[in-house]
Amino acid sequence: MSTRTNLIPSKKKPPGEFHFMSIHIEAKPGEIAPAVLLAGDPLRAKHVAETMLTDAKCYNNVRGMLGYTGYYKGVRMSVQGTGIGMPSISLYATELIAEYGVKHLIRIGSCGAMQPALKLRDVLLAMSASTDSNMNRRAIGDMDFAPTADFYLLNQAWEVAKHENIPVHIGPILSTDSFYDFSPGSWRLWAEFGLLAVEMETAALYTLAARRRVQALTLLTVSDHLDTGEQLSAQDRQTAFTEMVKIGLETVYRLYSPGAV
Ligand code: HPA
Repeated sequence: MSTRTNLIPSKKKPPGEFHFMSIHIEAKPGEIAPAVLLAGDPLRAKHVAETMLTDAKCYNNVRGMLGYTGYYKGVRMSVQGTGIGMPSISLYATELIAEYGVKHLIRIGSCGAMQPALKLRDVLLAMSASTDSNMNRRAIGDMDFAPTADFYLLNQAWEVAKHENIPVHIGPILSTDSFYDFSPGSWRLWAEFGLLAVEMETAALYTLAARRRVQALTLLTVSDHLDTGEQLSAQDRQTAFTEMVKIGLETVYRLYSPGAV
């Protein structure tokens, strides 16, 4: 039985299907690989391309939102900056999918932990993304869609984590619209429902991927803890993300080299 259930073609085409009039990405047709890692910070995308990929070529510099295509263990893949928040990631993800034919999107991001069991530098695989945003409600006639990771990607990432001996937490997260919330303790209600951590992009990414019948997964590294107030320094962030990036790269590698591991 196939686990790629979300790839069943939709009868209705989503709106906004226009070809190679991409506004925010200036890549030429064919310059972006079908699998893309998405980093909020474009400089993280650059860092991943320069340190983890071979023969990486920059295909985008519009608004400084860098994107690169290169090779990891011989498998062609891309890494693209998305900016912060759901509107920003949505426009890059939409253009990648609708105009460049991208099929697999793996976000590599940071998050704030909401549970005592989570520590700085821990890695999470986001199974689902609740949200305080109105974006998804607008997409589905004011009803609630349940944004979830693609099971096939989630399972592959989990297999990679086990193989690489990288401990991970797998569970639900929150995608918020407000980094600096007007009611600072409001996250505690979400924590009571078992949400592990908060970030600002995944609910929109999972919803978009579902609507456009592609696969998406979010990997996160804990950069701060909402309860204790601890934070990674900018320097520590760079090194702490290495394990998460490795899971992302190896997951894509396995998609294109089945049986290689
Ligand atoms: N809140 C929202 N997004 C985040 C956080 C946070 O504390 N940390 C990293 N991304």
